[in-house]
Parts: sequence; C-alpha cells; structure tokens
Amino acid sequence: MPQRERSHAHILTQRIDIDDPTSSIAPPIYPSTTYARDNAHALPTVGPDGATLCYARPDNPTLRLPERMLAELEGGEDAALFASGMAAVTCVLNAVVRKGEIVFCPRRGYFAVRARIAEWCKAHGAEVMYYDPEESIEFPEEDVTTRAEGGRDRDVPVEKAPPLELPLSLFHRMAEMGQTMVPVALVWVESPANPTWDAMNITAVSILAKGFGARCVCVDSTVMTPICSKPLSLGADIVMHSATKYLNGHGDVLAGALVTKRKDGVWAKILHERKLGGAVLGSFDAYLLTRGMRTLELRVRHQSESALWLAKELSKAIVEKKVKLPSSNGAIVLYPGLEPTPEFPRPDYMFHKTNCPYGYYGGMLSVVFLVDRRQGQAKVKKPNLAKECAHFAANCRNWTCATSLGGFESLIEHRYSVEFSGPEYRNTPDDKQERRLVPHVPVGLLRLSVGLEKKEDLLRGFLQSLAEFKLPE
Ligand SMILES: Cc1ncc(COP(=O)(O)O)c(C=O)c1O
Repeated sequence: MPQRERSHAHILTQRIDIDDPTSSIAPPIYPSTTYARDNAHALPTVGPDGATLCYARPDNPTLRLPERMLAELEGGEDAALFASGMAAVTCVLNAVVRKGEIVFCPRRGYFAVRARIAEWCKAHGAEVMYYDPEESIEFPEEDVTTRAEGGRDRDVPVEKAPPLELPLSLFHRMAEMGQTMVPVALVWVESPANPTWDAMNITAVSILAKGFGARCVCVDSTVMTPICSKPLSLGADIVMHSATKYLNGHGDVLAGALVTKRKDGVWAKILHERKLGGAVLGSFDAYLLTRGMRTLELRVRHQSESALWLAKELSKAIVEKKVKLPSSNGAIVLYPGLEPTPEFPRPDYMFHKTNCPYGYYGGMLSVVFLVDRRQGQAKVKKPNLAKECAHFAANCRNWTCATSLGGFESLIEHRYSVEFSGPEYRNTPDDKQERRLVPHVPVGLLRLSVGLEKKEDLLRGFLQSLAEFKLPE
C-alpha cells in the first residue's frame, strides 16, 4: 500500500492506515472477549509492536486504532480509552493521588469533575486546594515556546507570544503548601472552563506545578479538542477528554480518553488502574468513535467559525440593546475567541490565544443574562431570572434544549437549573470555607453548543425567540 504523507494538524482528513489483511477502508470490529492460544500455549500477537492478546479488558484491538489516532493528534506517546469521561477522571485520581497528598483544582470548571475530585479526596484522605485561573501575575516578556517543554508543532505559525503570566492564587497556595512540604500529586486544569470559558495559561501552570514538584499536570481539553489546542506541547503530562463530546461528535457514544506525553511510571499506573478498575470502552463504541474522529477536524473548524460569528453577532445585538429578557439587566457573551471590547473586556483572552495557536477556539459559548440589581442586593430577582432562562432555553427556535455538547446538532441549556438539581452540587466542595471560594454558575447563563447547522438560522432562531419571549401564565 503506498505511503501517505501526514501533516500533524490534518491527519483526520487523510487515510488512516488500517492494519488489516483485507485493506478495508472501514476498520474491523473485534467483539471477542478472549483469544485462542496456540499449541504451545502462547498468546496470539497483533500489530506492528507484536502486542499479545489475552483477554478483552486489557487487550482489545478495536480500541488501538482510535487510541493511536488520538495519541498522534495530541502529540503524545500513548492514549487509553474509557467507558466515559468521568471514568477517565477517576482513573487519574486512583492512579496518581495517595493519602495525605494535595490535588489542585480550579475554582471554575465542569461541575461533575470538581465534585468527583472533592468526593474522591475526602474518601481517600487527600486534600483539595482550589485556585483561581483569573488572578495572575505577569512575568517578563519572553517567547513562551522556549519555556514549554517540547515547544509547539513545527507546522504551525507561531505568533509573538504574550507575556507569561502565572495564576496568582495557585502561586500563593503552592507557596503556602511548600512551607508545610505536603507533596502535590495532581494539578487539574480545565481550559476553557465549562461553562464560563475562563482560560488558564497552560504553559504557566505547568511550569509552576513542576517547580513545586507536582507529579502530574492533567488538562481536561474536552472543549478545545486537539484541533484547537495541544496541551502536551504546552507542558502538560496528561490530556483528558470526554470523548462523548467533540471527538465522537454524533451524540451516540459515551466515552473518555487519556493521552500521555510519555510512557512513564504514571502512565503504567493509569493502564494498570484501567485494567483492574475495568471501565474500558466496548468494541462497538470504539468503532463509532473512530468513525466520528475521522471528521473531527472538519467539524471543529466549522463549529469554531460559526461560534465565533454567533458570539460577535450576539454581542452586537446586546450592545445595540436588541437583547433583553423581562427581568434581566442586560447580557454578556462569553466565548474564548472573542476579542475584548470596551463594553466586554475579557482579561483572559490572551491566555486563550496562547493555548490556541491554530486560530480556532471551539464551538462553545454562553450568553449570560444579568441579575437585576437595580433594587439593591437584597432584592435580586434570582428565581424569576432562573425561571425565565429555563423557559427560554426550552422554547428557543432552531436550538434543541438538552444537556451535553460537541455534537452535530446545536444544543442550548440553562446550566443553573441543571447544576442545582443534582447531588453533585451539594457535595462540592465539602468544606464551608472552600465552598465560598467556588463560585456558582451564573443564574442567567445559557450554554450554547454550536453544531453544524447554518449559522444564520441559529442566530435568527435565538433573536426571534428573544423578541417573542413570554413566560407561561
Ligand atoms: C469538560 C467536561 N469534562 C468531563 C466531562 C465528563 O464526561 P462524560 O460525560 O463523558 O463522563 C464533561 C461532560 O459534560 C465535560 O463537559
């Protein structure tokens, strides 16, 4: 078979070499849970590295293809697939953190991951320290690529890097912890943070974490995908994905993934933990994931372009006062790629630019209707706004009101209604003082996952629904 050239950022639109004697274009599915030994009781081998096949929980050839694809896309040495994103998060905790150690967790980010980290640490005698990605101190101007381990990919134009900034609260908290010499096991990063899309400078966090001897920096890159950002090239050790979202992209697979910068001791523990923990992906889901990932680049580029356009158009409509819910006090649009304006300054915009050298910022944005504070703090009309936003989301034209993100179909959701209805919120975090540090999702936040529909239809549906908005009697 002729060799095909691959450029690192574009492999998914090209043919993926399938190690199959039939030369089939679609990869085979191996549903078998076990493999026959030969007359000498030896296990069968498969693939270029001659891996042995014994039993499907640790060894499933159907998973190896999407794992290789993802490792290559992220610029890592290996990848492992899981039964869900949360299974991947739990595997990292089990494999990396020990009793008495510290886990750094951002104050903003996907609520179930924060809940999992808090619950897990409580149950295992580890300590969670929350840090704020927004507070930062500036470091002297210097090309970030010289600091990041491995630098950036060579086929990507590198803009002049912004000054390196370190999250101030992480710095303080690490310094505090340094005085007591408690080992830092894990620094969890989610950039941009779901659903407010705050950015963290992954390079800066990684340098700081390593300086304090952290064993592992893990970046949840679900929302960015390797098409927008490659955290391993910015200094992270592990990248985590809820593959349920963009990687699959079709709303029909629940899956998680971890990708490692290097096959080291931490990675060996992760593979061991997956094997004994047992939260592996099934063969048929792995096949669907492969199929979804083949169009990842095209989907994410399209979704990023539509989301940026929508973010700009919605911001314009807000500035021109075309957007108003009855009890709201104006609105703001949160989107990682939105350049700051006098009306809506985004202090973390430069962090997004640092993390996303390809010029794509993903398909997620939020519109936040602000609480009416005209009557003073005591009379904030939160319940009204929550009810209105939930009702608006459920009735918004051309958008489907549903949880999840990253699929071909555009989804809208009122996050406050979702996050406050389950037990996860009540458990996050346990300590009252820490709880004050972890902000609630804004009550008027609508999260929009931009799909593959015509962007003009999405804008028209949203604005028309706003114009016609009425609460039920
Ligand atoms: C950023 C992020 N991380 C992790 C997860 C958890 O992934 P899963 O639902 O596949 O378990 C989600 C799910 O919404 C998410 O949005």
